Amino acid sequence: MKVNRVMSAYRLDVISLLPKPFEILHELGVIGRAFTTGIAELNLYNPRDFTHDSYHKVDDEPYGGGVGMVLKPEPFFKAFTSIPSHPARRVLMMTPQGKQLEQSDLWRWSKEYRQLIFLCGQYEGFDERIRNLADEEISIGDFVLTGGELAAMTIVNGVVRLLPGGIGRSESLIEESHSNLLLEQPHYTRPSEFSGLEVPKVLLSGNHKEIARWRQKQREMRTKIRRPDLFERWVKSQEMACNSELMLNNLPNSSSKNSCENNFIEDPWWD
Ligand code: ADE
Repeated sequence: MKVNRVMSAYRLDVISLLPKPFEILHELGVIGRAFTTGIAELNLYNPRDFTHDSYHKVDDEPYGGGVGMVLKPEPFFKAFTSIPSHPARRVLMMTPQGKQLEQSDLWRWSKEYRQLIFLCGQYEGFDERIRNLADEEISIGDFVLTGGELAAMTIVNGVVRLLPGGIGRSESLIEESHSNLLLEQPHYTRPSEFSGLEVPKVLLSGNHKEIARWRQKQREMRTKIRRPDLFERWVKSQEMACNSELMLNNLPNSSSKNSCENNFIEDPWWD
């Protein structure tokens, strides 16, 4: 098993009243291995352990009345200040009111930071002052869960798989990072025919150039049909990349040729 000897472990610190579910992350294949090989480390902090009253009270009624309980600020702040701070640290608050999570966020956190602190709420919500601890508020979708734990676990999973030393340098990840906004193409394995369903001929052809073109076209078509919003963003990002390349190539002394010309795949022979 490969051990990451150069970089210290990427720190993941979670503040949650329900630390138990996070244990499952240690059993999640590639993610679990990242913890055992020292690529990442996961630490849990329960605000209840930072209370001083005999009831270990972490929540209270909302000022002004209303249903539900609100998480008290003191145990949260105490748990937070007990966490060692890395210079490259980002604090993420899990809330349905946050910015919606995207793959580009996972890449950014995996590349630009060495520590993520997750603030997970339960009950009706946080005391508003807890928001001051966060650099970013993140939602994993337009739906409401009972707490931020599943959202934090989703992010831990998504970030750890991108870290160098895990699968972070694999071919498929490099490919994934280049076509960030596109959905994956279909995949096939043996047998070439199953119950009358055949594998596309181009995949059996051995022609790597044509296979690459087919895969790219499949990604584009799938995205266009299933996620037109993503497709539109991808087209725009391609156009922007082309325009900046054109500008660079038109500078005096530039001899490089424009690679944007072949950008759009015309209908190939396998259609
Ligand atoms: N907590 C409750 N619902 C959530 C959501 N959708 N995203 C992030 N945190 C949450």
